[in-house]
Amino acid sequence: MSNAPDRPTVVRQDLDNVIHPIVPHKQLEQQQLVIVSGKDSTVVDADGREYLDGMAGLWCVNIGYGRTELAEVAADQMRDLAYYPHTAMNRPAAALAEKVNGLLGGDNHVYFVSSGSEANEAAFKFARQYARHEFPQQNRYKTISRYYAYHGTTLATLAAGGMGDRKMKFEPLSGNDFVHVAPPYCYRCPFGLEPTSCELACVKNMETTIQGEGPETVAEVIIEPIMSAVGVAVPPDGYLPAVAELCKKHGVLLHVDEVINGFGRTGRLFAHEHAGIKPDIVTVAKGISSAYLPMAATVVRNTVFQSFLGDPSENRQVNQVNTYGGHPVAAAVALRNIEILLQEKLAERSAENGKYLLDGLRTLTRHKWVGDVRGKGLYAGVELVTDRASKAVMPQAQIKRIVERCQELGVIVGRSGGGRHLGNTLVLAPPLVLTRPEIDRIVSVLDRVIPEICPEAAA
Ligand SMILES: Cc1ncc(COP(=O)(O)O)c(C=O)c1O
Repeated sequence: MSNAPDRPTVVRQDLDNVIHPIVPHKQLEQQQLVIVSGKDSTVVDADGREYLDGMAGLWCVNIGYGRTELAEVAADQMRDLAYYPHTAMNRPAAALAEKVNGLLGGDNHVYFVSSGSEANEAAFKFARQYARHEFPQQNRYKTISRYYAYHGTTLATLAAGGMGDRKMKFEPLSGNDFVHVAPPYCYRCPFGLEPTSCELACVKNMETTIQGEGPETVAEVIIEPIMSAVGVAVPPDGYLPAVAELCKKHGVLLHVDEVINGFGRTGRLFAHEHAGIKPDIVTVAKGISSAYLPMAATVVRNTVFQSFLGDPSENRQVNQVNTYGGHPVAAAVALRNIEILLQEKLAERSAENGKYLLDGLRTLTRHKWVGDVRGKGLYAGVELVTDRASKAVMPQAQIKRIVERCQELGVIVGRSGGGRHLGNTLVLAPPLVLTRPEIDRIVSVLDRVIPEICPEAAA
């Protein structure tokens, strides 16, 4: 843009006026990163410096940056109809619902919202309302979740999450409606077991919890198939089927959070497909529109949706509303985004290039502070420890410095959000259009930076 404000003007406007999420203001004063454009997997700052974005923004720009076609789709839709509330029908939202439903087996209905947090909130409410209708003699209101999970930033989704650091300034949160169980975080198995012989102790822990709480009080279980927040924790193969079985046994709905995992990230369109399970509720966001516009959805199996049907006098309809749900422009953009994902076979590409990325990252284990390398698709974690035997976590200052140094060298990598306790995993969730030379570059930058920042870690 020729008349765009210069960099110092943006920095002044920003620092004087903006509250940024999660980043300390002081850090912004020092780093002052102003991103102005992007193409494929690369973003460009106001000084013209390019960065290979190993995080696809916030794990979301799945089809890559700079798809001007989506700008045209948005402009066309805006000219026709910019907005009308979803209490009525609109063309793009109907078409998007049909597409998303089809991708998830065709036996669902789709409720649109604008963020992953809202999608999970809506799911909690659907599960409770469903239970109210279907088990009128019981009070099924609890959600079972896992420690270290992240499910969003609102009070209920925070309560559902299992990250103490994120919650502590807002507690007490809601009452006893979110109950936590041990996560399938195999590198640090909460039971000190190995995945080959653990017999899924974490699922047994979940069953003990459901029984202890009383199944007649439990509405749903929420799981993110591969846990992002703790650093891309891939569960043992049998985990998801065992959780699905458990839910069925106790009449509890299974709510799968595909906000990050979905739309090709793990090498399948949806991560739960790897396990061949059929959740009752699937929440999606991020990759549904590759973040070109805010779009998210709560997808509910028809076995659940039927509970919201009936004569208007029965008052069974979903008891919620949000202004931007089913936004026609966001829906039109999301639909085209999904078409691009499918046409370009980006889930398949994620599977193939994900293996290549993982192989590359595994070479980093020659540095002795690399404790674990794990992932699926273009979605990987490199956990750093100061001692492989004890798995002592690498100090925060060093991890932070590694991330900063990679950025100085033009590669953006993320780190797990485990806070002070477990923020010691470098994470990668690049655009699914990432090329093999770009993967080589990420690996070689990490190979250089890890021993540079931690000389003790050198091979
Ligand atoms: C697994 C998961 N669920 C939900 C959310 C919340 O999504 P949003 O930030 O769009 O509200 C996130 C955000 O990163 C997430 O990672």
